[in-house]
Amino acid sequence: MATNDQLKALVQSHADGDDPQFYAVAMQVAAKAARAGQSKFAQDLRDLVDELRNRSQASSRVAAVVPVTQPRGELGSLLTVTYPDARLSDLVLSDGLKAQLRHVLLEQRQRDTLAKHGLSPARRMLLIGPPGTGKTSSARVLAGELGLPLFAIRLDTIITKFMGETAAKLRLVFDALVETRGVYLFDEVDALAGDRAAPNDVGEIRRVLNSFLQFLEEDTSESLIVAATNHPQLLDKALYRRFDTVMNFTLPSQDNVQAVIQNRLATFQTSNLSWSRIGPAAAGLSHAEIATAAENAAKRSVLAHRTRVLTDDLIAALVERQRSAGSLGQDV
Ligand SMILES: Nc1ncnc2c1ncn2[C@@H]1O[C@H](COP(=O)(O)OP(=O)(O)OP(=O)(O)O)[C@@H](O)[C@H]1O
Ligand SMILES: [Mg+2]
Repeated sequence: MATNDQLKALVQSHADGDDPQFYAVAMQVAAKAARAGQSKFAQDLRDLVDELRNRSQASSRVAAVVPVTQPRGELGSLLTVTYPDARLSDLVLSDGLKAQLRHVLLEQRQRDTLAKHGLSPARRMLLIGPPGTGKTSSARVLAGELGLPLFAIRLDTIITKFMGETAAKLRLVFDALVETRGVYLFDEVDALAGDRAAPNDVGEIRRVLNSFLQFLEEDTSESLIVAATNHPQLLDKALYRRFDTVMNFTLPSQDNVQAVIQNRLATFQTSNLSWSRIGPAAAGLSHAEIATAAENAAKRSVLAHRTRVLTDDLIAALVERQRSAGSLGQDV
């Protein structure tokens, strides 16, 4: 059943002529009914909303073409939205990771076909790996390739900002998942690991983790859930089971090093570069570090009025990154 607040919101949005809000609240009511086991009513309501949305979109094509989803009110302080234009080809990943991403994209694109056979597409991904290896970028690529908004949720910020009411805030996020199909990125999910909490916060973190697990379990939305972490060893085992795809990101192979540099130096001549010397200088650096080093070397070339990037410049830039990574102590 709808709550009193939801009924008020329905009447208010009707009076305001605010169709998106009206449908969003109706979807919240459907989600609540689904959670309460009223699956037939929930499905009927969702179908009705879909039909009405399609009708109103057909009559106002502009609204359908320009995505204007901006989280409103309280939700705006919990997540940020972007519309990435990223493509799979922008990323340099192992064949295995590329295949996993392609697989998710294929199932998402074919979700209507799957649905006809009672099957649902892969849509919950856990991305594990060192900093700067492409986890956030992969979430951007999923959104970009599927033409969906990317909603980023910083769990650690929510937890520190809303201590005591984090679970309630998470519920708002999971309601949004139902209302607006998108890619929802829960960055730094290890924030939910009790080991990282101050002793007096352990109870709260445990409660939040339990709510998160429960929301994940109950979620029947069509959104994609992407969780990312640099600290897989801290994650609760129960969390792993909630994801249909676990992706392990690693530091780049020698071939990947070359590809990252060539991508970054696409507008420069690189045929002169000595890869056998560059490879060892890049060992142990992440994709992000290598890309930054390539950019630094490129800037040096531009300022020296050269069209080529020199191997020595590149190596110097890589060594510089090694030094700063070393002095920070690799947080892996
Ligand atoms: N696999 C990759 N291929 C190409 N570029 C990459 C890759 N990974 C990282 N980069 C570059 O590094 C930047 C940062 O990467 P990204 O934010 O995806 O890392 P991350 O794995 O999410 O790191 P963190 O754990 O610190 O959040 C990207 O914007 C991109 O320029
Ligand atoms: Mg990231």
